[in-house]
Amino acid sequence: MKKQVKNNVYWVGKVDWELRKFHGEEYSTHRGSTYNSYLIQEEKTVLIDTVWSPFAQEFVDNLAGEIDLQKIDFVIANHGEVDHSGALPALMKRIPDKPIYCTANAVKSLRGQYHQDWDFKVVRTGDKIDIGNGKELVFVEMPMLHWPDSMATYLSGDNILFSNDAFGQHLATEKLFNDQVDQCELYEEAIKYYANILTPFSGLLTKKLEEITALQLPIEMIATSHGVIWRDNPVQIIKKYAAWANDYQENQITIVYDTMWNGTKLLAEKIAEGITQADDKVVVKVCSLAKSDENDVITEVFKSKAVIIGSPTIARSILHSVAGFIQLMKGLRFKGKKAAAFGCYGWSGESVKVLNELMADAGFEVAVEGYRNLWNPDSDAQKVAVDFGRMLARI
Ligand code: FEO
Repeated sequence: MKKQVKNNVYWVGKVDWELRKFHGEEYSTHRGSTYNSYLIQEEKTVLIDTVWSPFAQEFVDNLAGEIDLQKIDFVIANHGEVDHSGALPALMKRIPDKPIYCTANAVKSLRGQYHQDWDFKVVRTGDKIDIGNGKELVFVEMPMLHWPDSMATYLSGDNILFSNDAFGQHLATEKLFNDQVDQCELYEEAIKYYANILTPFSGLLTKKLEEITALQLPIEMIATSHGVIWRDNPVQIIKKYAAWANDYQENQITIVYDTMWNGTKLLAEKIAEGITQADDKVVVKVCSLAKSDENDVITEVFKSKAVIIGSPTIARSILHSVAGFIQLMKGLRFKGKKAAAFGCYGWSGESVKVLNELMADAGFEVAVEGYRNLWNPDSDAQKVAVDFGRMLARI
């Protein structure tokens, strides 16, 4: 059933309470998600975005229960990724002659995915459409935020920015607005979304936020494509994004490791003790890659000023869980973070050297040589690990 957002603007999306993995198996969604589609019923009737393909028929049936689909004047596809365009094939079967407004890159994306010759109308930043009753839709291209085709659409009069993925959160809720949900959950999901999806595009985001600010559009609501709509002080999430895009870090050090026979695990715990002994103000998190959700660990890395990474030596290298996690961090292109390595070994002992090389290649400043320990750490080795931690508190 449609829900009123403001005046003649309605939410017609899908709440996906069951979703636990997104982007295939790449991104964990502990709290589900929503696919937000919006219906504007002014003199013109406009649909902004649709829902993920598994819910396509349900979406079209529900929409047809709310309005005569033939009354839709046009569709706006802010982004071609399947979680927003997935119901277009089912919808366009019912309204094949209606135009789809989108960026030039979205035409490529939608044609490439669906192989349909829909009536695409290409828009660029600043293009406007009069929808009657004194209201206009204004388009703002958002290339690489987070795909080449991404754009936002602004509705004047109601002053709503339909931002698509930007400012979103994977948070299933029956509530529509940010002031109606638990604020800790909201911000946990918002920062996780930024850390795992938007970090590589932080430089572009900073410029785009400046561009949007320069347009001086009054923004009363930011209607994202996932999670809740920011209506209570929407500037709060713009300010957060500005901070997150600026090589964000808190006073936190995160220790990330995997272990075979618990030697490297013991080092991780002793290093954490040492850091805290030297500086009890710094937040220390210890994350086992075997026991933790990788996307949650990425969020901890995002908040950190330094990442201490550990692996035992295996086959003259490191555990593949740690190698994979470093690859994940490399793709996200973190900036301004320091790193140090540690690990146990039985004979050849290459892990620390390999970790140092991989962390440097991933864009981290490797601040010290690292600490490696032969066999299981005895009480002396544990003291050395504590001292290593004390030293890391000052890097
Ligand atoms: Fe929510 Fe880029 O799709």
